[in-house]
Amino acid sequence: VVNTKADVSLLAGAVPSRVWVRPGMLAEVGSILRSVVDNIATPLALLVTDDNVGPLYGRRVLDSLGDAGFRTAEHVIPPGEASKSVAVLTDVYGSLLNAAADREVVIVALGGGVVSDLAGFASATWMRGVCFAICPTTLEADVDASIGGKTAVNIPGGKNLVGAFHQPCVVAIDPACLQTLDPRDIRAGMAESIKHALITAEDFLVWHESHSAGVLALEDATVTELILRNVRLKADIVTRDAEERTGVRMRLNFGHTIGHAIEECCGYALRHGECVALGMLAACRLSERLGLLDAATVARVQRILEQFQLPTRLNPPIDTDRILTTMRVDKKSRGGRVQFVLLRAVGDPVIRSDIAESDVINAYQSLFH
Ligand SMILES: NC(=O)c1ccc[n+]([C@@H]2O[C@H](COP(=O)([O-])OP(=O)(O)OC[C@H]3O[C@@H](n4cnc5c(N)ncnc54)[C@H](O)[C@@H]3O)[C@@H](O)[C@H]2O)c1
Ligand SMILES: [Zn+2]
Repeated sequence: VVNTKADVSLLAGAVPSRVWVRPGMLAEVGSILRSVVDNIATPLALLVTDDNVGPLYGRRVLDSLGDAGFRTAEHVIPPGEASKSVAVLTDVYGSLLNAAADREVVIVALGGGVVSDLAGFASATWMRGVCFAICPTTLEADVDASIGGKTAVNIPGGKNLVGAFHQPCVVAIDPACLQTLDPRDIRAGMAESIKHALITAEDFLVWHESHSAGVLALEDATVTELILRNVRLKADIVTRDAEERTGVRMRLNFGHTIGHAIEECCGYALRHGECVALGMLAACRLSERLGLLDAATVARVQRILEQFQLPTRLNPPIDTDRILTTMRVDKKSRGGRVQFVLLRAVGDPVIRSDIAESDVINAYQSLFH
């Protein structure tokens, strides 16, 4: 049995979230979860995964749960952002009903951010909230989506518009899962890690600048350190502002205002992280235009994105009016004003809601060339 002491713990809701980051973790999920639900004879666990991840890792997690005394059921969704929908959510509820799930069920997400956002929202709402665990399998989910308890589905009018805060009780990160991930998704996940560095600490940006080869080659020690640093950093922010009320957590939205609009308007043809990379670059250029950030830092941000082979140009371009319209329904809008996280320096973000549309247009269109 694994050492049950978590690598990182955070308290942002009623129950603590405990996070493990270790190669081989998938085989330990059952025993860890069993220690959380130790008051029930044969608890039920519903594994939610997708068609790509299920065949690769589903058996390992189901066996681990079974060995630890869980009855198990499985719900497999089609891969991709389109599955973060009310229709697929309804199917998950159907599986819960079929398995006779009650309030003691544990929902276990195995996959990337799509699976954990969807399964998380099902956990938040099934019988007004049940225990939720995540086994993230993408870098995006390892460094960002699995931490902090944001869960959501999309509706045709906008991304993540229907959701809830619901903290996972257990996050079991097995960095070995990344070996089967498309390298494009490794690079996309790095956009969120670069985001974390840009909004918190220059030394973490330096770390990225000197570790790109080790990260992209998926060196065990480097990737484990990368994930741990991101988990600690995000846990710290989430602990200070769990439900995004004081502005502290809002900083994590750096690059996401324009990024989300690009993501929706391209019909999810680009990865989430690729859109965040473009959004961060646009936000930096906007910051420079407003006299907040110097040109050398903007160039440095562009270089680090290029170092991780992330896009720095939007090709083909997307119509500016569509982007502006999509941005206005962003959840972070307040009183009809779009909020931007801008940068004054690496590690020094600022939230502004007084940005002239002409400046936004200029920053967005700078991505065309
Ligand atoms: N809740 C949050 O705080 C938060 C934070 C960041 C992003 N997100 C959300 O996360 C989603 C993006 O997540 P993502 O980038 O993980 O995408 P994803 O879940 O769509 O996974 C990307 C692709 O990789 C496949 N895959 C996953 N793990 C694999 C593995 N180990 N081996 C082989 N293939 C694998 C998936 O089937 C999918 O096709 C977006 O919807 C975004 O809004 C949420
Ligand atoms: Zn993101």
